Amino acid sequence: MSAASFFEDLFGHVPNVVAEAPGRVEVIGNHLDYNGGLVLGAAVDRHVRVALRRHDGPRVRLRSAGFEAVEVPLEAVRPQAGAAAWANYPLGVLHVLREAGLAVPAGFDLAVTSTLPAGAGLSSSAALELATAMALVEAFAPGCAGRSRFDRLALVRLARRAENTFVGMPCGLLDQGVVAFGQAGYLVLVDARRETFTPVPVPDGVAFWILDTRHKHALVDSRYAERHRECRDALKRLQAVCPGLTDLADVTPEQVERHRDALPGALYRRARHVAEEQQRVRACLQALAAGDLDAVGRLLTASHHSSRDLFENSTPEQDRLVEALVGRPGVYGARLTGGGFGGAVMALTTTAFDGMAAVAERYRREVGAGIDVLRCETAEGVRRIA
Ligand code: GLA
Repeated sequence: MSAASFFEDLFGHVPNVVAEAPGRVEVIGNHLDYNGGLVLGAAVDRHVRVALRRHDGPRVRLRSAGFEAVEVPLEAVRPQAGAAAWANYPLGVLHVLREAGLAVPAGFDLAVTSTLPAGAGLSSSAALELATAMALVEAFAPGCAGRSRFDRLALVRLARRAENTFVGMPCGLLDQGVVAFGQAGYLVLVDARRETFTPVPVPDGVAFWILDTRHKHALVDSRYAERHRECRDALKRLQAVCPGLTDLADVTPEQVERHRDALPGALYRRARHVAEEQQRVRACLQALAAGDLDAVGRLLTASHHSSRDLFENSTPEQDRLVEALVGRPGVYGARLTGGGFGGAVMALTTTAFDGMAAVAERYRREVGAGIDVLRCETAEGVRRIA
């Protein structure tokens, strides 16, 4: 069902605005964004759509198929708990947009539809944030989306702020940046410190896959926050011995080795992952420019091994899936994608690759569970569609 007819069925009137935002794949650069590094991602052809209509009442009504209905007074927009927690993404965006000066004088109705599986590693949360941001700006400040205070970069920053402060997840700006700046036929090179988003052509003859293990660590968000803290701690310790260092992603593997004594326990492994992963992203850009897909694939797989051994954010299920993929004719490389601690693996293959059923079969034999398989094409970033 289209977003507009879903909206009409629920609320009995038509929406003023419909905005659409894609999911994203993290191609390489694991946990580099909040360390000021470079990350390659891609917006993909599964979408969240947000339909919205202003009204004169004091309430905000939010609906999403399969989730609890949420209704809050415009003047008391606060984080929700339990089954209503899904609404923290649109409510958080509303909150930060108002803080940034968007005048929202009365309430509105909002309905969400999606072809983007939630929790499958494609960042449906960032897609929901950006689609909501675009719909709200188009509805309450027509013509301002993409311009001035509410240009694409502003929406990226605001959506990240909503996630950091309202949802309570200390993410970087990779997901929001790729969802906003994606283009069909291109990857997005995110420079997290400079906040720039540069298109990088997708070479001919490759296919992207997302394979969801459906298995997640129970404490994904707190493990993510723990890695975030460890990286900050490693940076502080390295700054004491490397004057002028501003971001962990700038440290070289040689510096990490030289100052190993300053990095107790896990901090050494975290810093080493970040330093080497940053080198892999740069090497990947060169390999892409040279059209060397075998080299790109080797870098992706090396990234997975580093996440597994040094950043320790992989699960045995993700490791088995990567093992089932790598080395198969037609597979360039595979790695966990996104925050980790379970969830999805991405694979880069030839377009002719037809071995995914065999991969799923081997995984089922070894792990005793199924996987969800999605083949993705690159797609446009967030936009208004009606
Ligand atoms: C999640 C976060 C991103 C990024 C990745 C790991 O997707 O939302 O900001 O940190 O994990 O690279």
